[in-house]
Amino acid sequence: MARYLVTGGAGFIGSHVVDALAARGDRVRVVDDLSTGRRENLAGHPDIEMVEADLAERQVAEKAVADVDRVIHLAAIPSVPRSVREPRRSHTANVEATHELLLAARDAGVGRVVLASSSSVYGESETLPKHEGLRPAPLSPYALHKLIGEQYAALFSRLYGLETVALRFFNVFGPRQSPQSQYSGVISLFTAALLAGRGATIHGDGEQTRDFTYVADVARGILQACDAPGASGRAVNIARGGRMSVNGLYAALQRVTGVSAAARHAEQRPGDVRHSQADVSLARDLLGFAPEVAVEEGLARTVDWQREQAAECPAGSAGDANVRIGPRRAGRSGG
Ligand SMILES: NC(=O)c1ccc[n+]([C@@H]2O[C@H](COP(=O)([O-])OP(=O)(O)OC[C@H]3O[C@@H](n4cnc5c(N)ncnc54)[C@H](O)[C@@H]3O)[C@@H](O)[C@H]2O)c1
Repeated sequence: MARYLVTGGAGFIGSHVVDALAARGDRVRVVDDLSTGRRENLAGHPDIEMVEADLAERQVAEKAVADVDRVIHLAAIPSVPRSVREPRRSHTANVEATHELLLAARDAGVGRVVLASSSSVYGESETLPKHEGLRPAPLSPYALHKLIGEQYAALFSRLYGLETVALRFFNVFGPRQSPQSQYSGVISLFTAALLAGRGATIHGDGEQTRDFTYVADVARGILQACDAPGASGRAVNIARGGRMSVNGLYAALQRVTGVSAAARHAEQRPGDVRHSQADVSLARDLLGFAPEVAVEEGLARTVDWQREQAAECPAGSAGDANVRIGPRRAGRSGG
């Protein structure tokens, strides 16, 4: 039975990682300041150790890594627009907390740190699919924070022998995702509109594409990265490796919800990458990663969850049907 620290474990992806670890019988400590995470996301795990604290504080990071074998670092403020609006606060959560955690993990002799990066590090490169050999070109503070985290991790591997793996997630979706998510919040907003019998608004022609990846696949990739030999010091894409257009997504959600409602198209908003798709061959070769959940199956699970939520909390669940995909302002991240 290994001991894991999951930072940001009360968040969307983190809580699915906790589910996967708990199912294997591993011991889990979560550190989360609940800035975007929710205690309810961990309601199924009364036995895990949950520490509500800010990882950017050195003592918090030092205590967090005590007696753990692996660190899964997901805590962040995962938002391009917020990083533009509040660059200092985002830098503290995304860069300083990561640095404190790497230092603490080095000093505590942690076996490996797996940390969340993002496809946003690729910027507006038009190459498809995006592979790890492309030169990063961050277009927002958030994307730069993620790149700095990756590079710090690789440097700690070289300089101090701390094993690290950075994972570049693309558009992760699934139950417990906030509708505010820049990545795939569009799914819960489309679903909310359809379940209310309304059509959603699609910005642009809807032919922009994303590599939508179901969260359980991402959680599995994270666990594989915790132990894969030969992966230390690397940055690796984690995604399905496919592309779905926003129109295709909307059509799939109409099938899954059983509600047919024409979408309205509004003008395209500036700043969106047109297409995003991951090359996942490195993940396959280095980590043995292969996605298992088809997008439509993942959508069905997500819609089921959203229906349950709406039944439990009808007033707060409707959301805003005026949606777009990607960040609201600077930066062109697809995930
Ligand atoms: N969701 C995606 O599609 C996607 C894509 C690319 C990268 N990522 C990255 O994956 C990670 C998880 O993202 P998510 O979608 O689950 O977001 P999330 O907002 O649900 O989870 C982030 C968690 O970190 C916590 N947190 C933030 N600052 C903290 C701090 N200073 N100390 C302790 N806890 C703190 C939040 O409360 C939250 O629970 C993030 O690092 C994000 O940048 C996500």
